[in-house]
Amino acid sequence: MDRVRAQAHRLLDLRHRLAVRVPAWPVGAGLEGRVVITGSGGLIGGIVRAGLADGYALRGVDRSPGPGVDVVADMRRLASVRRVLEGADAVVDLAAKGSPYSTWKTVCDEDVRPALNVFEAARDVGVPRIVYASSNHAVGAYEQDEPYASVVAGAYGGLDPGSFPRISVDAPVRPDGPYGAGKGFCEVAARYYADSAGLSILCLRIGTVLSDDRPARERHFATLLTHGDLVSLVRCCLEAPASLRYGVFYGVSDNTWRFWDIESARRSLGYAPVDDAERWRDRLALREAHSASG
Ligand SMILES: NC(=O)c1ccc[n+]([C@@H]2O[C@H](COP(=O)([O-])OP(=O)(O)OC[C@H]3O[C@@H](n4cnc5c(N)ncnc54)[C@H](O)[C@@H]3O)[C@@H](O)[C@H]2O)c1
Repeated sequence: MDRVRAQAHRLLDLRHRLAVRVPAWPVGAGLEGRVVITGSGGLIGGIVRAGLADGYALRGVDRSPGPGVDVVADMRRLASVRRVLEGADAVVDLAAKGSPYSTWKTVCDEDVRPALNVFEAARDVGVPRIVYASSNHAVGAYEQDEPYASVVAGAYGGLDPGSFPRISVDAPVRPDGPYGAGKGFCEVAARYYADSAGLSILCLRIGTVLSDDRPARERHFATLLTHGDLVSLVRCCLEAPASLRYGVFYGVSDNTWRFWDIESARRSLGYAPVDDAERWRDRLALREAHSASG
């Protein structure tokens, strides 16, 4: 019975593998490597794809067809993931439901399963580097403590930016829900694959990336990661030395009120963010005043 089940499983795997249509890698002078972007049809996928287009041969993968998607495949299926990763030098792994409101079941099926498949497939087909999209929600519960609670509320009275300790990447994972716990779990799984399979996996605890590329509420003055800084951080990860086998880094711009520590990203990756959300402060206040009066 077990043999029949295993055989059926293998046939199903083969069907999924054959169902994925993968175009040949683009070729061109001056391309620094072949990079798969999973979740390329989404917000961050679109930004990263546009930002890397001049330097890399790209293969965008998403389960829904659309702009920026070269391959339609579901990352929950290991056979499909193996197929799309073939021949790549690196993966920027973004595919996930990615919602702070997800249930445990959704997190397991839609966030954790696709990430584990990418780690597993990268080991199997020999993709040496993965840039994994973790999230600030892996440490979101620190925002219940002072002074972070005041900073996210925009209640700065008596506070001096930079005078309080920033949350280090070495602080224990402290998720604010199933989504953050799932990301924390994947960071740990990434470490296992780095240690056991020799992969290099760099995990980015991304802050807030918005389509408007500017703060929409008080918390974003601390947590915003602008599109430009996001692309430069991903580039830093792709170009980091192969000897960097594992790392967790905060993905945040150089915001005046930032409370995540990016020193390790500066040191290990050469990340040098140029934006500060503060420059939109007056414009947000004006917009709020306008909508209050309207
Ligand atoms: N936007 C942010 O501020 C932010 C912050 C922290 C972390 N992140 C993480 O970054 C990643 C990308 O976020 P985003 O804001 O671009 O989300 P998004 O929802 O805009 O994009 C995600 C994309 O992944 C695709 N996808 C989902 N499951 C898939 C699967 N099983 N197979 C193939 N494709 C699948 C979706 O179709 C979608 O196009 C996510 O992992 C998210 O958790 C985002």
